[in-house]
Amino acid sequence: MLVHAINHKNLKQAALCLQAGGLVAFPTETVYGLGAMATNATAVARIFSAKQRPQFNPLISHFSSAEAALSAGQSNDAAAHLAAAFWPGPMTLILQKPANSLITALASAGGDTIAIRVPSHPAALDLLARVNAPVVAPSANPSGTISPSKAEHVVNGLGAACDMILDGGPCESGIESTVIDCRQERPILLRPGPLTPKQIADQTGIELEISKPLEQASQAVSPGQIESHYAPRAPVRLNAENKLQDEIYIGFGPSKTGLKPDFNLSEQANLVEAASNLFAILHEADALGKAAIAFAPIPMAGLGLAINDRISRAAAPRTF
Ligand code: TXA
Ligand code: MG
Repeated sequence: MLVHAINHKNLKQAALCLQAGGLVAFPTETVYGLGAMATNATAVARIFSAKQRPQFNPLISHFSSAEAALSAGQSNDAAAHLAAAFWPGPMTLILQKPANSLITALASAGGDTIAIRVPSHPAALDLLARVNAPVVAPSANPSGTISPSKAEHVVNGLGAACDMILDGGPCESGIESTVIDCRQERPILLRPGPLTPKQIADQTGIELEISKPLEQASQAVSPGQIESHYAPRAPVRLNAENKLQDEIYIGFGPSKTGLKPDFNLSEQANLVEAASNLFAILHEADALGKAAIAFAPIPMAGLGLAINDRISRAAAPRTF
């Protein structure tokens, strides 16, 4: 049996499976991750192979405590401050990797940095504590396809590559963690996610440097600038006010034009709801096999930044 409910027996079996070099997909509060022991190079290599992921794309190591996570990198005041404020939670920190790190080089794609995160999902934390070692977990989808927010997405995309899939139901946020490069005094936002720069500034006083102009996300993306990483099969059209022939139209909020969308990210124009629905709707829309997928405009504020970032990547030309 591949898919397992969350209970003590199955968590124990999953931990043993990871320790033995297996691949276990598990839920986090963001998306499902495809886990492997970060210290086991063969297991980590199986992840790249399963995802058919370009090897230069490094992986996030997951830990059951902030203390364990921070000690895996060269920590500093900013990292400690962010960790205390937002872990466990949907935030990944990039730190300098110590020379004697036990985490396999493949997880850092040969680089000298390490990505660390403490997820807040109780099953993920339980599993990580049982494994008692860092677990790398990219989103549990084949490279270049949509991230999985339900166990069935993992079954469909990567079922053949998983030794076990833990089914924790739909993920709470449905969008991947906020990634912050913490190697310098002023941390840099690398990937927008559920935790917004404003929340970070309000709670810690830390003003992130934004690595690329965020308004770029609402414009056409130049090829090569942003990798096509979240692409459905069908081409995606952004900021669409109308529905063209043979298109799936994905709305946001009440229709202004009377046009009835095929799907709505959130009837109430709630960005949190939209983020949690985004990948499930993209999966469903893509499965209908139409010529294209059109998205209604989504405001560039709060979580809208992360949503626009994801769908503009879906619209970017494929580079794989
Ligand atoms: O929410 C999440 O972060 C999920 C769950 C499973 O934890 N994981 C996830 O992993 O989204 P993945 O591999 O799909 O995305 C990781 C992102 C990639 O954009 C990768 O390039 C970046 O983090 N990343 C990982 N290690 C890095 C490093 N050392 N330096 C810079 N970026 C890094
Ligand atoms: Mg991913």
